[in-house]
Amino acid sequence: MSSPLRVLFLAAEASPLVKVGGLADVAGSLPAVLRELGNDVRVVLPLHPSLRELTHGATPIARFPIPTQFGAEEACAFQLTSKRFAAPLYLIDGPPLRGSDTVYHSYVEQDFSKYIFFSRAALELTRAIDWQPALVHANDWHTAAAIYWLQTAGRSDPFFAQVATLIAIHNLPYLGDGAANALAQYGFALSDHPRLPDWARDALLPLALAHADMITTVSPTYAAEIQTPEFGCGIEELLRSRADHVRGILNGLYPAAWDPSRDKSLVARFDATTLNRRARNKRALQQQFGLVDSPAPLLGIVSRLDRQKGLDIALPALAQWTEHGGQTIVLGTGNPDLEQQYRELAARDPARVAVALKFDAQLANRIYGSADLLLMSSRYEPCGLSQMIAMRYGCIPVVRAVGGLRDSVRDVARGRGTGFVFSEATPEAIFEALRRAQALFTQTRRWQALQRRAMRQDFSWRKSARAYVAAYREAIAFHNSIHD
Ligand code: GLC
Repeated sequence: MSSPLRVLFLAAEASPLVKVGGLADVAGSLPAVLRELGNDVRVVLPLHPSLRELTHGATPIARFPIPTQFGAEEACAFQLTSKRFAAPLYLIDGPPLRGSDTVYHSYVEQDFSKYIFFSRAALELTRAIDWQPALVHANDWHTAAAIYWLQTAGRSDPFFAQVATLIAIHNLPYLGDGAANALAQYGFALSDHPRLPDWARDALLPLALAHADMITTVSPTYAAEIQTPEFGCGIEELLRSRADHVRGILNGLYPAAWDPSRDKSLVARFDATTLNRRARNKRALQQQFGLVDSPAPLLGIVSRLDRQKGLDIALPALAQWTEHGGQTIVLGTGNPDLEQQYRELAARDPARVAVALKFDAQLANRIYGSADLLLMSSRYEPCGLSQMIAMRYGCIPVVRAVGGLRDSVRDVARGRGTGFVFSEATPEAIFEALRRAQALFTQTRRWQALQRRAMRQDFSWRKSARAYVAAYREAIAFHNSIHD
């Protein structure tokens, strides 16, 4: 057994404390699993407005200055032990955080100072409490400045010189570009990395990608895709030049948190041996949303309604699906135009299409535990969690062969399948996959065998967490080899 690693894990959000997107699911679960493997992993989050009540009346464990162009700003750190969070947690406060009323603004420029301040303060916290990490694991552009700083200015700082770095990409198109002013404000020099395009010299994520000891992303397929022009967001050359340092590690989930035999939000709980009970959930959901009782399959969509998810492409396919008797239920919010188009789809045939344009975790679980199919027609999908949850609930995924969808769903045509996979992001390809599903659905015994196979898949974090530990060790070895 090798020695435990000290890892500082930086994120903008972590479930269940603060969640906007999929990053929160990872930051809320991976650190705890890494700890179970014997590592000393500690999480740092910004003290967002919604978290302030957690520190009410608490005494900070440290106060320390963060230098800026205009003098120092005082950072203040709280340590939190919460039953709701399974890893040691620090919350950082300071002027740019107090001036912000949300996790992410729609204008990203409004968030640069806040997250650069947070990234620097999270590092300085370790000095203030004299807990020197072996590695800092940052996630997405929000905390990328910590990695860039460690690999540049931090190299001549005795406390940080030995600290290895890892940047994890959860969603490449969010590059954090245009941060020149905020970078200057916190005294960062611009990078002269030869593969960094000029426009990306003030882009926070690319700066970290150019300099980090290790780059991870959340599925093996996405790790390859981001090195191509189609998915590389203009920095594919940079990523290709760093290919030896890129690892794709599929996200996991907590099996206990997604268990249809214990899920209280379901009308009827079930497992792989009592699949017939599932029909009661479907009937209850149909009744609630005014859908007719029909032997046709019910397709669920649980998603943000935005460009990434390809739900604009799905619309014509869903219209056809409805004409062929298929039913659809959509849960999600997002782009107002798209929301309107989905409302119209439902209005045309309310007995077959229902939409709930909101965020509702309980309803999401009820859809997983009721619907026969789940559609994910993403333009790109770094990993995706819904397809894995759906499989746990015997809801068969119909997915595009991109990123983590490709790595987690196996098409039935290949034998021992767990879902339906299509290649092209076109309505025709989506409809064709739905038709294949509809045909198999009529063969109850084969369908239930498919459901049981999907339910038995192991998407737990253990294997992936071990892959992270291996990546950490490689990063540390690399850092030492070039810094000794
Ligand atoms: C982002 C990606 C999603 C991934 C999640 C967690 O939200 O869009 O595919 O599952 O991050 O890594």
